Amino acid sequence: MRHEVDFLVIGSGIAGLSFALKVAPYGTVCILSKGEAAEGSTRYAQGGIAAVMYDTDSFDKHIQDTLVAGDGICDRDVVMMTIKEAPERIEELVQYGVNFDKQRSGKFDLHREGGHSEFRILHHKDNTGEEIERGLLQAVHDHPNIELKEHQFAIDLITQHHLGQRVTKHTPDIDCYGVYALDVKTQEIDTYLAKVTLLATGGMGNVYTTTTTPILSTGDGVAMVHRARGVLKDLEFMQFHPTSLYNPSERPAFLITEALRGAGAILKDYDGHEFMQKYDSRLSLAPRDIVARAIDNEMKLAGVDHVYLDARGIGHKKLIEGFPTIYAKCLEQGINITKEMIPVRPAAHYQCGGIAVDKRGRSSIHHLYAAGECACTGLHGGNRLASNSLLEAVVYAHNAAMDAIESVRTTEHNHQVPDWNAEGLVLNEEMVLITQTKKELQEIMTNYVGIVRSDLRLQRAFNRMNLIFRETEELYNRSLLTEELSELRNLIACAYLIIKQAQARRENVGLHYSIDLVKEGDAGNRR
Ligand code: FAD
Ligand code: SIN
Repeated sequence: MRHEVDFLVIGSGIAGLSFALKVAPYGTVCILSKGEAAEGSTRYAQGGIAAVMYDTDSFDKHIQDTLVAGDGICDRDVVMMTIKEAPERIEELVQYGVNFDKQRSGKFDLHREGGHSEFRILHHKDNTGEEIERGLLQAVHDHPNIELKEHQFAIDLITQHHLGQRVTKHTPDIDCYGVYALDVKTQEIDTYLAKVTLLATGGMGNVYTTTTTPILSTGDGVAMVHRARGVLKDLEFMQFHPTSLYNPSERPAFLITEALRGAGAILKDYDGHEFMQKYDSRLSLAPRDIVARAIDNEMKLAGVDHVYLDARGIGHKKLIEGFPTIYAKCLEQGINITKEMIPVRPAAHYQCGGIAVDKRGRSSIHHLYAAGECACTGLHGGNRLASNSLLEAVVYAHNAAMDAIESVRTTEHNHQVPDWNAEGLVLNEEMVLITQTKKELQEIMTNYVGIVRSDLRLQRAFNRMNLIFRETEELYNRSLLTEELSELRNLIACAYLIIKQAQARRENVGLHYSIDLVKEGDAGNRR
């Protein structure tokens, strides 16, 4: 089937929904979501969204904290712009119907997280993302110009390549005309022609064995841009959250929010002793890369699979009222967090790099924008400051929308685009070819390209990924496309990009840490 829209949005998390609401008064909008609309990282966000709301805090402090966490390689202009725009974007979320917790005085109740010098995290109990997703989805459903289609899996961007022209990464004017998308229920591949396309496809945590991200976070947007020869950046900076609940059989891993450490919870080793004093004077509230590396080191030294987070000092009432989701989840696992320590370990959590975009959310491909976790704006540098990603998503959804509204006025659909050609392809009958390869990929990435890397580990990962790539391309060339096969190809592309960009980075910075690049005074806590 062929569809024509003005604005095509791939993804229904905070970035996609915010963009859709902004552009909807200016044309037809279609949102494609590969799962159910509410499913995505957004709904799992616990801690909240960072913004300077009162004069007990200042833009300068938030800017400084972001730059420090980013290890000196953030884009300063982007940091200043994002942080200064924050209060306006928060106000809009509230107008869309999103609720943030308030104190009796009527002021927002603010939390504090690692790397923040002030209490500045707006939140809704410990389920902020669920509340944001609820509010935005309601506003989208209420808008007559927006069509939201679930179980539609975007496969590839349509460019000149599909018109028979050769496109390389040196082609100066690559154009995006829309996407091909698989209707997961009918298995048909549809053509979506759009004047403007926004990728808001979220992260790629599933490149790793343990991740807090939902199973649909497979880096599809990044992989699509890679295949379309667009520019990608900073993919070596995969952020591992220090504290996911240790429960090996559970995927995704359940997050224990950093706000719990902000409220006073303390990291302890397997024997119940504090250890962060060995690594950083900010102890459990040091930036995330430092804490994750410290835990990784403690686990390796002791040969154990987890450490502990001790929240008992916070107090019964504050724990149960302030962190009801975590309290209930741990209780379900037989852990009463008011009386017992929580077993935790790091998990792949957030991709700081992604599709390179400018301040208006424009990618290197014409008529293609990106926002949210799949985009690389320069805000996070080498390491994202906690709770800056929901903020980045709304700021860039706004900026991209403002640009797209102008662009759509002077753009036409390209009617020469052919439909997807599946002639001669047959259904792959052996799922094991996909499931086993995915497991291998995740193990390779976890063991060789995880929190601590080395030249040898990266080269081994690259060699093995090459084999997996060739085998999977052979399978792709003869098989009818399915969601599982497409996701696997995307994971392979993302893994390859992470490895290549990690190999190219010749100094330890932010989240990229190689034992071959350690310099004196570089013990992982330079900041
Ligand atoms: P997502 O919310 O992940 O949405 C992606 C969308 O893209 C989904 O709708 C999905 O169906 C769709 N999609 C993907 N691929 C395709 C495809 N091929 N075709 C069609 N649709 C597709 N950040 C903070 O700032 N504060 C926090 O407190 C916080 N807590 C977090 C807690 C957890 C457990 C996790 C995992 C992340 C957390 N983060 C937090 C990070 C933050 O939640 C995410 O970065 C952010 O929500 C990403 O939003 P998004 O709109 O870019 O993508
Ligand atoms: C958390 O709540 O610890 C996650 C916050 C984030 O990822 O920004």
